[in-house]
Amino acid sequence: MIFTSLMQVWLTRSLKPFIFENNSEPLDFQSVENLGLYVHIPFCRTLCGFCPYCKVVYQSEAAKQYKSALLKEITLTASSLSEKKEVTSLYFGGGTPALMIDDIKDMIDHIKKYFIVRDGIGVELHPNDVGEETLLKLKDAGVTMISIGMQSFDSHCLRALGRSMPDYSQIFEAINKVKFDVVDMDLIFGIPGQNIEILKNDIKTAFENGATQISTYPFIDFTYANNRNKPQTQKEKKKMLEEITHLAERCGYVRTSVWTFAKPQTGKYSSVTRDNFLGFGISATTLLKEQFKINTFSLDGYSQRIDQDELPTSLTLKFSERQRMVYYLFWNAYSMQIDLQMFEEFFNKPLTGIFGFELWICTLLGFIKKDSHKYHLTARGAYYYHRIEQIYTTAYIDKMWNVSGKIAFPDEIILR
Ligand SMILES: C[S@@+](CC[C@H](N)C(=O)[O-])C[C@H]1O[C@@H](n2cnc3c(N)ncnc32)[C@H](O)[C@@H]1O
Ligand code: SF4
Repeated sequence: MIFTSLMQVWLTRSLKPFIFENNSEPLDFQSVENLGLYVHIPFCRTLCGFCPYCKVVYQSEAAKQYKSALLKEITLTASSLSEKKEVTSLYFGGGTPALMIDDIKDMIDHIKKYFIVRDGIGVELHPNDVGEETLLKLKDAGVTMISIGMQSFDSHCLRALGRSMPDYSQIFEAINKVKFDVVDMDLIFGIPGQNIEILKNDIKTAFENGATQISTYPFIDFTYANNRNKPQTQKEKKKMLEEITHLAERCGYVRTSVWTFAKPQTGKYSSVTRDNFLGFGISATTLLKEQFKINTFSLDGYSQRIDQDELPTSLTLKFSERQRMVYYLFWNAYSMQIDLQMFEEFFNKPLTGIFGFELWICTLLGFIKKDSHKYHLTARGAYYYHRIEQIYTTAYIDKMWNVSGKIAFPDEIILR
């Protein structure tokens, strides 16, 4: 808490915290370039204790109502466009989007009435969903990238997370038959009982069985999660991250972000690293030049707002310019690089003029290296990013999601 407050004050040169208020303003996205889209599908068969995301147990009637509200939210937002707008990508996350497999095509078709999706469509999958029939339906709907939440291939680690072993031969066969441009597999490290050998085997198994990319997440114990088994210590996680990085290097995989490693010349699955995006559905966030907004986490609250032809926004943050810059740098650093020209185009101000001192310190500490156009995060920088990300997740995201899970439309949330 003290760490996040100090960093915040120092980087934004202001005592003003991030204040999220209960207001719902029109969204200023019509002329934004490089806009991404995200759709949240909150339904799951059962709820995993370790998972912090906004989710509810699947019920067909609730899913039916959700679909119609979701289509209406898209219409409410996009009807301000005078013509179809090009967007970079469209991601479906959850929850378990495949529980609405027969609706995904309708959702994509509806989105395509207003948007032209340039770089592909991605969907998150639970391992139990990965069968030939589901994958064919996704392909038919226009999906080009999939991300499978494997977590680990080790039965003890899965058990520690409260998961059972899926049928891997069926999963690998299906991915082998129905091809996608990107196949991401999510792996968690720092699970109790996991050792370096198990982790290495998880990574090898993923790449040998169809993954073009792996996403490696440090196990985080959210305060409101229901983890029977706690994550390993920070020291163990550090060792594991070093091993992941070495193994990926030795095998020739490219580090495409702080968390992801990919086979060379393959695309990226990444629903978070974009400068601007619109989010639809409960809990979805929207990030624009001056606004950051978050939708209600409540299914009922969502439907009620939509029924009244209103956006289901629960909280909005109006960025100061400096806060927006810090936010921009945080997410760009996540993709391992900060492009000087792109920063200047976005803010109309030079990066080095504003953050020259911080960049100098980070270079001295060996966190970043500069070439002619960009600053690149080093492996050391990526480790500290991981640490800071975990601290912010615990201080900011945990608080925000915890309150939002309890109150449909909170009056205010202040993050310092
Ligand atoms: C929305 S979730 C899961 C997608 C899919 N429903 C599934 O269960 O496989 C996206 C990813 O976040 C990661 N994740 C979830 N909870 C986590 C936690 N407590 N710590 C670290 N990573 C976590 C998992 O790797 C997960 O696959
Ligand atoms: S991990 Fe996946 S299946 Fe489990 S509760 Fe979270 S979103 Fe649902």
